[in-house]
Amino acid sequence: MSEFVKIVEVGPRDGLQNEKTPLTLEQRKDFILDLMQTGLKLIEVGSCVSAKWVPQMADSDVLFASLPQDPNIQFSLLTPNLKGFESALAVGCKEVAVFTAASESFTRKNINCSIDESFEKFADIMAVAKANDIKVRGYVSCMVDCPYEGAIDPQQVAKVCKRLLDMGCYEVSLGETIGTATPNRVKIVWDACLAELDSQVLAGHFHNTYGMAIANIYQSLNQNIRIFDSSIAGLGGCPYAKGASGNVATEDLYYLLSKMGFETGINLDALMHASQNISQVLKRNNPSNYANAYWQTQCA
Ligand code: HMG
Ligand code: MG
Repeated sequence: MSEFVKIVEVGPRDGLQNEKTPLTLEQRKDFILDLMQTGLKLIEVGSCVSAKWVPQMADSDVLFASLPQDPNIQFSLLTPNLKGFESALAVGCKEVAVFTAASESFTRKNINCSIDESFEKFADIMAVAKANDIKVRGYVSCMVDCPYEGAIDPQQVAKVCKRLLDMGCYEVSLGETIGTATPNRVKIVWDACLAELDSQVLAGHFHNTYGMAIANIYQSLNQNIRIFDSSIAGLGGCPYAKGASGNVATEDLYYLLSKMGFETGINLDALMHASQNISQVLKRNNPSNYANAYWQTQCA
């Protein structure tokens, strides 16, 4: 039997948080309903953050509450503090993600506090999450470079990851936030993390600004990482990382993994349908090489 690679679909969250014109709640819901047909098992629905900071993610709790539940699909919401967590809890969300960074400057710009202060907020979340049996995933942005500080010390990345896991996160996703990394640099970061942490609790979240995301994922696979975040149609970016482009496209990740013999559980037709629909809604070309090749061969 082929080895399974877990894909976390971040399109409705990372994918939409940077769009110039926010989608309506109905459009966001339709997008997620499409994704629910694709076989993707973990979908980030949105973020319970301040709508003044990220208007595109407003009412993510309302959106969550409007979705049909499927026992095979885990939805999650990003929660930076107890206020956000309580909104997620109120709508019955069973998995949240907390997010910090390996860079002080990025943390400050993104969530308006220091790394230490972010952990104080997460400690409050963890206590309530534990009492309510809610899974908490962690994010560490700037795994290689920070848009404000430049190169980040891999030991610092490992330290923040360990801190999140020690605190109770079941998994930590390392964000290559601005997409500047190359495989040689990704290798050094994984080496630092894997010196003290199990590969099974680590995930890669690669943005594709310089077209290196797939190369970086290939490097990560070679170091036994088996969890990746991706965004359908390569949507995405972070409002606090100017110039950074979208995440690796789920379509391209699917192609790499399936051709390498990994199982993903993805239904290709449904994936392509979802990717075509959201590209039309957003009126943008899909940057996924695989999606473009797929449609060319379909039309030929
Ligand atoms: P703050 O201003 O420091 O918060 O923002 P505050 O506690 O001082 O409160 C100020 C106001 O915000 C108050 O409202 C609060 O009620 C409200 P007011 O009295 O002025 O009307 N507030 C909230 N409202 C809704 N939900 C909340 C919440 N908390 C406070 N949870 C805060 C702190 C974290 C809220 C703010 O900085 C924020 O919303 N930041 C947005 C962060 C974000 O969404 N970033 C993008 C996602 S992370 C990412 O993309 C990286 C990742 O993809 C990995 C990678 O690629 O590297 C994950
Ligand atoms: Mg991201």
